[in-house]
Amino acid sequence: MPEDPAELDGLVSNACASFAACNDDAALANAKARVLGRDGWLTQRMRGLGALEGEARAAAGKALNAVKARIEEGYHARSNALQEATMHLLMRAQAIDVTMPGRGIETGGLHPVTLTLARIESIFRSIGFDVADGPEIEDDFYNFSALNTPEDHPARSMHDTFYVEGGLLLRTHTSPMQLRYARHHAPPIRVIAPGKTYRVDSDATHSPMFHQFEGLWLDEDISFSDLKSVYTGFLRRFFEQGDLDVRFRPSYFPFTEPSAEIDLRFTSGPLAGCWLEVSGAGQVHPQVVRNVGLDPEHFIGFAFGSGVERLAMLRYGIADLRLFYENDLRFLRQFRD
Ligand code: DAH
Repeated sequence: MPEDPAELDGLVSNACASFAACNDDAALANAKARVLGRDGWLTQRMRGLGALEGEARAAAGKALNAVKARIEEGYHARSNALQEATMHLLMRAQAIDVTMPGRGIETGGLHPVTLTLARIESIFRSIGFDVADGPEIEDDFYNFSALNTPEDHPARSMHDTFYVEGGLLLRTHTSPMQLRYARHHAPPIRVIAPGKTYRVDSDATHSPMFHQFEGLWLDEDISFSDLKSVYTGFLRRFFEQGDLDVRFRPSYFPFTEPSAEIDLRFTSGPLAGCWLEVSGAGQVHPQVVRNVGLDPEHFIGFAFGSGVERLAMLRYGIADLRLFYENDLRFLRQFRD
């Protein structure tokens, strides 16, 4: 029986319509299987060709092959259309709107303690002082004994010390840097050594970690007035107040003799009129000079040790030391340039 071309046309357009109605790959695969799969009607019809003979078989085969080609074309058209639609959806979902305004880049700023340290260093460098750095984990010798504070010395109780393993401790002051530096440099020595120091102490004006800078001027022919002029000059430049008052008040430290506490007094501003303590200082004790390997008959040293946060608080008008370490951005942003 020859194939009826009208019937075949109908079958082709039905098949193509069933493909066109599919909205996803799975449905399209099912529709395709119904026609071209192992049990699909076209496959079955092609299998039926075996029952035909000679020319009839050739003619029917040709007609069915043409049908198959048109149906496959319909299938591919739909498959491509679905793929394209999926791609469009994906592209729309992942689209970046390049016309939207950017998020902006927040600029950071330096911490007020860092700013203060930089200021201190630049002032001392400008008058010929070196800037040295040393260990925060110290031993008893450098932190106490070599600074003329032997085991049973009452001054040890001035410092509540954090001890760490192996008989070591967290330095309670930057004064050990006097010894470390002077042991490795020949006089004349002019140096400051800023850095972190640690004490068991915590309230509005004490922090378990705080910063100091040690100063040492060791030479053959200098006097207390040199220390006074250097430190007074430093304070006046640091606070940008040329008429700032400075006084040296007698005090006691085991590593200096005589010892002094340095006070300043602002002549203007909210703190004007009161004496405010800013530093310890003194003439380096002869025993400490000996401990760095020098003869105290020939060499004389002047030293000071000042609190960095203390200076920062006075300069910026900060009443609570803890603000420096809470990392509250509302506080820190105020120091951004
Ligand atoms: N190290 C002392 C302290 O932390 C401060 C000090 C006083 C340092 C007198 C000195 C000095 O160099 O001469 O309290």
